[in-house]
Amino acid sequence: MKLETQWMGIQLKNPLVASASPLSRNLDSMKRLEDAGIGAIVMYSLFEEQITHDSYQLDHHLSYGSESYGEAVSYFPYAPGYDFGGDAYLTLLEAARNALQVPILASLNGATQGGWTEYAREMELAGASGLELNLYYLAANAEASGEEVENMMLETVRNVASTVSLPVSIKIGPWFTALPHFVRRLVAAGASGVTLFNRFYQTDFDLETLQVTAALELSRSYDLLLPLHWTAILYGQVSADIAVSGGIHCGTDALKAFMAGADAAQMTSELLVHGPERIKGILQEIAGWMEEHEYESIDQMRGSMSLRNVPDSSAFERTNYMRVLGSYKPDPTGWLK
Ligand SMILES: Cc1cc2nc3c(=O)[nH]c(=O)nc-3n(C[C@H](O)[C@H](O)[C@H](O)COP(=O)(O)O)c2cc1C
Repeated sequence: MKLETQWMGIQLKNPLVASASPLSRNLDSMKRLEDAGIGAIVMYSLFEEQITHDSYQLDHHLSYGSESYGEAVSYFPYAPGYDFGGDAYLTLLEAARNALQVPILASLNGATQGGWTEYAREMELAGASGLELNLYYLAANAEASGEEVENMMLETVRNVASTVSLPVSIKIGPWFTALPHFVRRLVAAGASGVTLFNRFYQTDFDLETLQVTAALELSRSYDLLLPLHWTAILYGQVSADIAVSGGIHCGTDALKAFMAGADAAQMTSELLVHGPERIKGILQEIAGWMEEHEYESIDQMRGSMSLRNVPDSSAFERTNYMRVLGSYKPDPTGWLK
């Protein structure tokens, strides 16, 4: 049984990938991921704001002297746990490259144009096997049309992809009016793959303090259904490799992702809760299922449940929506008859 595969041309011993998260915050946990059998690691993100801040800080330092420096650092909202600058990121990447065998991808996180994209080159020089560019962006300005926002993102992809000779996967959210068309435009801009999807961490309100709050909730297997649906639609329609990120917690979840058409199955929540060693169990679940169902390789099953390969393609389209709504059966003991 062959678990080896390729993702964007990167050779993987299996398609399980640790997604960008605190799992890669230090060499020790990256080593644990490798020892447990992970196929590749995407490091946590270096954010556009961090890079811009680093260079602002340097400029401020040089221009105005150290006494005014405190103000400059105080305005930047560092993501907790990610308060390392670009240099520390590159140092860790290089150390991991030297210490581990597993492919390591670096992650850049930003959407607007600017000098920060040049960090992609530094990441390549530090030994990354590939890049993930996370385009997390909320189009909250009513003046900007969808086309303008997409064009801005595409320009950023062009900047990053033309800076490196590494494969670049673009991590996006699910809210595009015409996702397959946008993914084709990402490929034309230089992307080798897409990572589906960014999680949108919504805000909530605390009615007592009248504060806007934000809580980070880990995923459940149910969250896989959205990327699964879109992977099945994209497979065969776009020349981008697909990594599913969101809701993969067990072997069955990963197998579903491959059957939809994914080249890689990324995981964070399951590994944060159960530790890197959980990978061993998931690999066993995948291998056990494949043996029982006589699959010889991951490549053999890839895309077998995609829109282009299922006998009833309406399952992914509008007809299914009508079917699902019509399938609701009221509880016979309830009020709705
Ligand atoms: C604590 C935490 C930190 C994360 N940091 C990043 C990050 O730096 N960059 C990124 O692209 N995604 C980040 N993510 C998102 C994960 O990579 C992943 O897309 C998300 O958790 C969904 O996958 P899961 O269902 O396997 O958890 C983070 C997620 C968590 C829970």
